[in-house]
Amino acid sequence: MAQITTGLRRVLNDPRIYVVTQRLLTSEARTRRWVDEILRPRAGQRVLDIGCGPADLLRFLPAVVYVGFDSSAEYIAAARARFGTRGRFEHARVDEAALEDLGLFDLVIARGVLHHLDDTEAEQLFRLARRALRPAGRVVTLDACWAEGQHPLARMLIARDRGQNVRDAAGYRALAARVFDDVHAEVRHDLMRVPYTHCSLEASVPP
Ligand SMILES: C[S@@+](CC[C@H](N)C(=O)[O-])C[C@H]1O[C@@H](n2cnc3c(N)ncnc32)[C@H](O)[C@@H]1O
Repeated sequence: MAQITTGLRRVLNDPRIYVVTQRLLTSEARTRRWVDEILRPRAGQRVLDIGCGPADLLRFLPAVVYVGFDSSAEYIAAARARFGTRGRFEHARVDEAALEDLGLFDLVIARGVLHHLDDTEAEQLFRLARRALRPAGRVVTLDACWAEGQHPLARMLIARDRGQNVRDAAGYRALAARVFDDVHAEVRHDLMRVPYTHCSLEASVPP
């Protein structure tokens, strides 16, 4: 079983297989629900997507000014090939230097990233997001999450995720609260076709 899991994780590094797997597991309507209810992007906003992967989320965004960063060269190449003119895609980990010339953003997204980061890295991500946001700007995250009473299949799938730092909602919330005063955590069981549990955080900068 461990070998199969390792093999699957390696295969998911291929952007095409990653996108197809995500589309099989979730659905347009479910992703749209999260976008409409929690992400709430508006046309014309400046959006920074940290750990954007192949940037499939762009399909669900209105006409925003989009900048995506990812540490995987393959994912960034796939994003550029597919969405070239719709955004700027950078092969890099986001750090202070990378943000220097980018200006401020209305919305910072980190979808499926926190559960890959240890606590120090996650705190750094929130510090960078805080620095990148304009007054009243928001950071929104979405990650697999442990929850009491969650479906056993959800626990099994999450335990096999490539991310080794899955937390419960309180754990995710505490990380954002190191940097932001205003943090809201929402646990969702309805974002995949299969039993699965997510935690979406929303934190904002004062107006
Ligand atoms: C599960 S994927 C999510 C991709 C995309 N956000 C999505 O929702 O489809 C996590 C991504 O985070 C990227 N990543 C992890 N840590 C990162 C970091 N410190 N800086 C930039 N990208 C990072 C990985 O390369 C990977 O593409």
